[in-house]
Amino acid sequence: MMAILVQTDLFHLQTDHSSYLFHVMANGELGQLYYGAKLHAQAAYPELTQSEPHGATPAWKLDTPNFQPGSEKQEYGSFGKGDFRDPAYQVLAPDGSRISELVYRDYRIIAGKQRLTDLPSTFDDTHDDAETLVVTLQDAVSQLVVELAYTVFPHQDVIVRSSRFVNQGDQPVVLNRALSADLDLPDADYDLLQFSGSWARERHLVRTPLRSGIQSVGSLRGASSHQQNPGIILARPQTNEDQGTAYGFNLVYSGNFLDQVEVDHLRTTRVLLGINPTEFGWYLAPDQDFQTPEAILSYTDGGLNQLSQQMGQCYQQHLVNPRFAQQPRPVLINNWEGTYFDFDETKLLAIAQQAHDLGVELFVLDDGWFGKRNDDTTSLGDWDVNLAKLPQGLDHLSQQVHGLGMQFGLWFEPEMISLASHLYDQHPDWLVRTPGRQATPSRNQFVLDMANPAVVDFLFTKIDGIIKAAQLDYIKWDMNRNITEAFTPTLPANRQLEFMHRYMLGVYQLYARLTQAHPQVLFESCASGGGRFDLGMMAYAPQAWTSDDTDAIERLRIQYGTSYAYPQAMMGAHVSAVPNDQTGRITPLSTRAAVAYFGDLGYELDVTQCSAEEKAQIKEQITFYQQHRELFQQGTFYRIDNPFTGDRNVGSWIVVSADQRHAVAARYQILNEPNPAYSRLKLRGLLADQRYLVSGREQPLYGDELMHAGLFIPQQLQSTMGVEQSADFSAQLLVIDAVDGQL
Ligand code: DGJ
Repeated sequence: MMAILVQTDLFHLQTDHSSYLFHVMANGELGQLYYGAKLHAQAAYPELTQSEPHGATPAWKLDTPNFQPGSEKQEYGSFGKGDFRDPAYQVLAPDGSRISELVYRDYRIIAGKQRLTDLPSTFDDTHDDAETLVVTLQDAVSQLVVELAYTVFPHQDVIVRSSRFVNQGDQPVVLNRALSADLDLPDADYDLLQFSGSWARERHLVRTPLRSGIQSVGSLRGASSHQQNPGIILARPQTNEDQGTAYGFNLVYSGNFLDQVEVDHLRTTRVLLGINPTEFGWYLAPDQDFQTPEAILSYTDGGLNQLSQQMGQCYQQHLVNPRFAQQPRPVLINNWEGTYFDFDETKLLAIAQQAHDLGVELFVLDDGWFGKRNDDTTSLGDWDVNLAKLPQGLDHLSQQVHGLGMQFGLWFEPEMISLASHLYDQHPDWLVRTPGRQATPSRNQFVLDMANPAVVDFLFTKIDGIIKAAQLDYIKWDMNRNITEAFTPTLPANRQLEFMHRYMLGVYQLYARLTQAHPQVLFESCASGGGRFDLGMMAYAPQAWTSDDTDAIERLRIQYGTSYAYPQAMMGAHVSAVPNDQTGRITPLSTRAAVAYFGDLGYELDVTQCSAEEKAQIKEQITFYQQHRELFQQGTFYRIDNPFTGDRNVGSWIVVSADQRHAVAARYQILNEPNPAYSRLKLRGLLADQRYLVSGREQPLYGDELMHAGLFIPQQLQSTMGVEQSADFSAQLLVIDAVDGQL
């Protein structure tokens, strides 16, 4: 199967259901022609290559008055020669000029997909028919070469783009901006879906129509951030979960990013994705190169559920560490909300023992096990066990936990340093600060200079040693503050704008070294919850702590919003105690579990404080989850009722097995309503002609009835686990199994 078709100056990338076309324009640069539903392969597309001149617009040359760069859809737009939109890149020459003309030179097609060397990236280890096109462009004046790479993952309808700048000239240049992808679409009749929020309120869906001008999301925090996520969607206004056109975009990157959408005066739409050009600059000496992170593009005309599913499948097969992508994720208990900093070995072992009795598979020791760490003011960087709390050491605790038949995991916050630490005494220069300026604290802590290779080496040696000695099965890698006073003494003055990206390269290098040295260790990323919930992290850490907010109702919205851009196997989801520590809300234990099931289930409470009834309930929950684990973690996920729309009072979703014979659906009623309206839940993803038995129902029902007529939802609620509960914050869980023959 050929995914990439080339006809002289025409490039046609085909996935199973989409086509992406670009060509060499009259000026030798690349022009975008089409991205959308699949087109027949043709030698030429005369209708697509037409364009007309517009008034008051610069032409390319005096003798080509009809060819206007600013009226063309560009493939990697430049600034300064008549296209006044924000460009995909900008290069500063030694004389201060900033004009580039990237003229087409040649191309090559590579079977499959090679990994990038220093950045997380997609791959095609499973020989899934991926093909990679590399188009080489060159500026004749500076001899700068730019390689635009396109990998086609045909079966997930995904195209991955990145750019590589190579200085083949004899003068140094500076990249002022180097974005990963530019997509110029021919009209602007789209809604922008972005996933925005804050700490403890991450990735809420915001859907707004595009308007003339620039609209963007991004981060300048040194992390992808709680506030905006690199995943965005453009959808036709009429597109809903089940039908309509949508384009999905994401970045395999965890640092400062920019996703920008510009609607110009001709009502074309330019989408730019990549490293945020603010706080970025890259000095490129002769023979040096710069590789951008990868951008993910995906198209469907099958609605938003389809878009999420195809992109999610691509990540699970072509991005996430293959060792863990399909592996059942363990049910864990984490002591953070149970004990915070206040624990000793006896306490931890009591929790581990009781959790094990309830079916928990992995015990995770969170913050507070090292240095003199009894609150958040000290010891980050001193990764040596706190003998006051654990007098027999970590190794002993690990042995005890392993002895129970559980896995043992540990929390680190590698990238940070406390002023009150031995590390700071020894290496004050490792703390990120700008000379002559005060270093700004956040959570009483400071950032380590991950752009300094000595810091990465130190952290590797430390963590590697602990993994070996304590035989860790799992690491939670936390990161609890953003970067201020960005500067590194390891770079000269004219290269300081490289810091933010070099910081991320240091983080990725540490992840790469640790995961290569210890392939059996499952990593979960975390950044005060979901402050770095992105595909860069997911390449190394197959799951992430979705949010510090464990309140079931808040989590419903957070997980619902997150599901647009990330599959549920990536979402760590825990049941915690009530009143909830973030909201003070009291929700039923059954509801807390019914939300947390739709991710990687964990418990984050002091189980020794639970009543006998609660423990019995937790045990039942874990057994239920284990029975349906593959479905919850890997099943096809469909959003049904959107808790961000209408009166925001109901949310529902379903996970369906690959063979469509098993499913679990959940419907959440946030506040109870007096005298409520008649309500039905229309399931998704089933086989219309198949009969199914739904838990709590006597009669099997056909898939068509379940999907089109729906299930009657009584408002007088009983707990699914048979325990009394308030009718506020209630959840109904439905198990759906195919039945064959007569009952
Ligand atoms: C923030 C994380 O999100 C929490 O889960 C916990 O690990 C704390 N940090 C520990 O300081």
